[in-house]
Amino acid sequence: MAEVVISIQVDRDGSLPVYRQIVSEIHNMLRNNKLQSGDRLPSMRDLANQLGVNRNTVALAYAELESKGLVQSRVGSGTFVGRFPGSLEESPPGPASDLAGSLERALSRRGRQGDDLIERISVRDEVSRINLSGSIPDCELFPAGEFGEVLSQVVADMGPAVLDYGSKEGYGPLRSWIASRLRSQGGIIDESELFILNGSQQGLDLASKLLLDDGDCVVIESPTYYNAIGVFRMYGVELIPVGMDGEGIRPDQLKEILSRRRVKLVYCMPTFQNPTGITMSRERRHEILAITARHGVPVLEDHFDAELRYEGQAEAPLKGFPGSDHVLHLGTFSKILFPGLRLGWLALPEVYQEPFRRIRACTDLSAGLLAQVAIHRFCEEGRLDSHLELVKRENKARLAVMLDEMEKQFPDGCTWTRPKGGMSLWVSMPRGVDAVEAWLDARRAGVNFAPGALFHVDGGGSNMFKLSFTREGKDRIAEGIKTLGAILRDRMQESKGVEQSSTNVLL
Ligand SMILES: Cc1ncc(COP(=O)(O)O)c(C=O)c1O
Repeated sequence: MAEVVISIQVDRDGSLPVYRQIVSEIHNMLRNNKLQSGDRLPSMRDLANQLGVNRNTVALAYAELESKGLVQSRVGSGTFVGRFPGSLEESPPGPASDLAGSLERALSRRGRQGDDLIERISVRDEVSRINLSGSIPDCELFPAGEFGEVLSQVVADMGPAVLDYGSKEGYGPLRSWIASRLRSQGGIIDESELFILNGSQQGLDLASKLLLDDGDCVVIESPTYYNAIGVFRMYGVELIPVGMDGEGIRPDQLKEILSRRRVKLVYCMPTFQNPTGITMSRERRHEILAITARHGVPVLEDHFDAELRYEGQAEAPLKGFPGSDHVLHLGTFSKILFPGLRLGWLALPEVYQEPFRRIRACTDLSAGLLAQVAIHRFCEEGRLDSHLELVKRENKARLAVMLDEMEKQFPDGCTWTRPKGGMSLWVSMPRGVDAVEAWLDARRAGVNFAPGALFHVDGGGSNMFKLSFTREGKDRIAEGIKTLGAILRDRMQESKGVEQSSTNVLL
């Protein structure tokens, strides 16, 4: 197949970005039948050389054309005009639609301050004696000495090179270790899709930069991780909460919203959700993937604590199911190892990778190389697995103590989830009992937990709260629950006569 010639006069000072000029010219050629289905476009490098522009500019243009279904790239053979260049007007909704535009707007957003991070109750607590609030591992369990040895060994073995900049994608051996670990859990993730990040919180931020713009709609589970709410709000998006039941996010509600609204992203935590601890069933995973794929909406899967399973059969990540090409997969070392190293990852479908590299280059260049090399060595030597064994044993016992004690101490009318893993569970009190009032009482008594309003965007959750069981030891958990039980009894006594609890603990 002949390679076509694209002759464009690039106007560097024009109001239209260069990549858009390329997109526009190729559009025109298609309209005027100067390009036919099956024609091969010049390679990105050739066109970049010909036009005297950066290769990424051409990559961005081709990505945009591909997202509109006008061209198709085939690995190893090049980029070809698609079979259906007929519809050139509106881009179809799809995971990558307006990707390049989003990127450009995201890049121009540099330096903008998050304007409306709402005033929230601090759950990161240095004051309370017993902290049952955040999804934080117990640092008393960290094998600090062992890690110190690995760290000095790495510096001794690799010398100054380990203190150099790392690549945008991350340390190769660590990427391949993560990919193979995820595959062993049923994930379908290739190391080429992985970017190592400074924590998965950064992944939420960078994925937002990549995909979202002011006024876009994002579907979230309700309740959801409050720092995800914070990030999305910083990007000026409208958050649409979708309720959950015992099997995860509700497909009926999701379907209804996606058929009515143009949604840019669905964010969910399929395994041991924060804050509820709920795990999405296998059937539900299929269903959610099918619904989102049908509507061309990308899914951001936050796989943050899925390895912390204490009983039952593990479910594969969403990004291991058939029809999960539209899933962006986020993970972290923070919950299974050390949050202080700030290492997480994001696996991206190919169409997003090049734009993401550019965003990364404008954000932090790379994750710290020393931390990556050290954690890789630590994992490779099997030390993560030994540590995880201890953490899971301990967390399982802590969860059992919490549930046991809640059974004894919490008043009738309270209900709660019973997760098979993860870091937290979710309590519902009868309607009218105020979790923030209870929280204030608890703080005075030296106990912290996380009131439900933090995890809602619609004013919900006032009679609900999250309890985390991973930060404190068993004795403190028992003591904290006892204190809390007394507070809840008092609060419920005071609000006697209010409506009784709904049977659905989440709504
Ligand atoms: C659901 C969820 N996602 C992401 C994060 C961010 O973790 P990190 O940035 O430490 O990887 C957290 C931290 O609590 C979390 O609970």
